[in-house]
Amino acid sequence: MADSAREARHAFLRTRRSVRRFEPRPVPEEVLRRVLDTARWAPSAHNRQPWRWVVLGSPQVRAALADAMAAAFRRDLEADGLPADEIQARVQRSRQRLLTAPVALLLAADLSVGDPYPDPARQRAERLMLLQSTALAGLQMLLAAHAEGLGGVWTCGPVFVPDLVREVLDLPPAWEPQALFYLGYPARRPDPPPRQPLDAVVRWM
Ligand SMILES: Cc1cc2nc3c(=O)[nH]c(=O)nc-3n(C[C@H](O)[C@H](O)[C@H](O)COP(=O)(O)O)c2cc1C
Repeated sequence: MADSAREARHAFLRTRRSVRRFEPRPVPEEVLRRVLDTARWAPSAHNRQPWRWVVLGSPQVRAALADAMAAAFRRDLEADGLPADEIQARVQRSRQRLLTAPVALLLAADLSVGDPYPDPARQRAERLMLLQSTALAGLQMLLAAHAEGLGGVWTCGPVFVPDLVREVLDLPPAWEPQALFYLGYPARRPDPPPRQPLDAVVRWM
């Protein structure tokens, strides 16, 4: 491969950023379909493809989820003893994101597709592999969005309230909510957050 082609591929991977502010213009459905279609090509343990996506297009559904998650978030922050104005600001920010993002996607792991094991140790390992596989589809989706000139961010609220998310969205019992993603055309490109030096994260043996 020519040096320039290789560098361009690495640059593509390195320039994906978590984008949290979007232009108001909508994302065409065909673009979103391509993004989700490419996310299917993520690797997965036993090729079980446990990822499940829920496209939150309906304003009513988004409002129901935003209200339920905001109430739970508020309860947690109150229990933490945060000042009331900070609680209000944080709850309001997360609620507004879900209500206004051009695209909102829930990612869940379908735990019913794993292998059954009689012992808890292997059950835990199998569950972990399904969650790892699902997370890879999340990254692949973000990279596919990047390829389309979209920006997006992974947000972790659903892992704190999986039962509530399952109930509001009427998901199958075996679907374990993992993340909410927001996508859209970036209002601005964020600066890259710093990375640890290579030597701090790699041990050569
Ligand atoms: C598992 C996971 C959970 C995250 N949760 C949140 C979140 O709740 N809210 C948020 O704004 N960003 C969230 N992020 C985005 C990270 O903050 C972001 O990836 C990190 O700061 C590095 O920035 P970059 O993605 O632009 O390289 C999450 C990312 C991951 C992988």
